[in-house]
Amino acid sequence: MSEVLIERKGGLLSLRFNRPEKKNAITKAMYMAMADALENLHPAVRVVKFEGAEGCFTAGNDMKDFLAAPPTDLNDPVLRFIRVLPKVPVPMVAQVDGPAVGIGTTLLLHCDLIVAATTASFALPFVKLGLVPEAASSLLLPNLMGYQRAAAMLLLGDTVDGATAERFGLVTHLVEPASLSETADRLVQKLLSLPPTALRETKKLVKTLPAIAERTEAEIKVFLKLLSSEELKEAATAFLQKRAPDFSKF
Ligand code: COA
Repeated sequence: MSEVLIERKGGLLSLRFNRPEKKNAITKAMYMAMADALENLHPAVRVVKFEGAEGCFTAGNDMKDFLAAPPTDLNDPVLRFIRVLPKVPVPMVAQVDGPAVGIGTTLLLHCDLIVAATTASFALPFVKLGLVPEAASSLLLPNLMGYQRAAAMLLLGDTVDGATAERFGLVTHLVEPASLSETADRLVQKLLSLPPTALRETKKLVKTLPAIAERTEAEIKVFLKLLSSEELKEAATAFLQKRAPDFSKF
């Protein structure tokens, strides 16, 4: 079965991470499938929904891919996915349970409604990996929660729990795990019932697209450079070898 399940039912396009044995870590093939779907959005689509599987949203970029096949140019599926996120013209809903790491959290900054279980957690460990933030999170996160909170998440890579994420404004609806999918589905149905043109136009007005696109590109330049760094090699190798990384030599 595919590691990301992409399905359109009427006006709803669902993207479900489906690699629970690896905590839904996202491979190139998964990025490619999602980028293809979002770049070529079916005209009937009124709402996009992201969700995870088996109590995990996603552990972010696959570490093996980071080592074996890091993105090198803008046609790489990772970068295609990152660049299409702010351009999706319809409302996006995320249903989050368990860990949302790296892109698992940065993609939420492009969603409009984030429904999270109290058991969800959010982390942006880019610095720990020898990398910089992506998907315009260096712009969107401080705008959303204030500089100091964003700095703690981005510089220290601190994990925040569901209640904290709600307080920080990252989560719009915090619910008990048992009512997670029901709440997300209710919001999706509500969005589907609203006038589609007014929804799209409102989303466009609320977003500050030029600044987001500019920051996305600026981040990508640094990100691509750091992807070939020894710091990332050490961080990713240490993770896969289940040992603590050693950055003392850098
Ligand atoms: N890439 C590749 N494999 C990953 C992965 C990733 N990002 N995240 C988890 N996995 C794999 C683990 O290597 C492990 O594989 P194994 O069973 O073959 O050893 C499996 O998924 C389960 O992960 P584990 O760490 O044992 O689960 P956990 O429940 O203890 O912790 C997380 C879950 C998400 C907190 C933890 O896996 C994690 O921190 N992952 C890395 C997150 C990260 O830094 N991502 C990059 C962001 S840019």
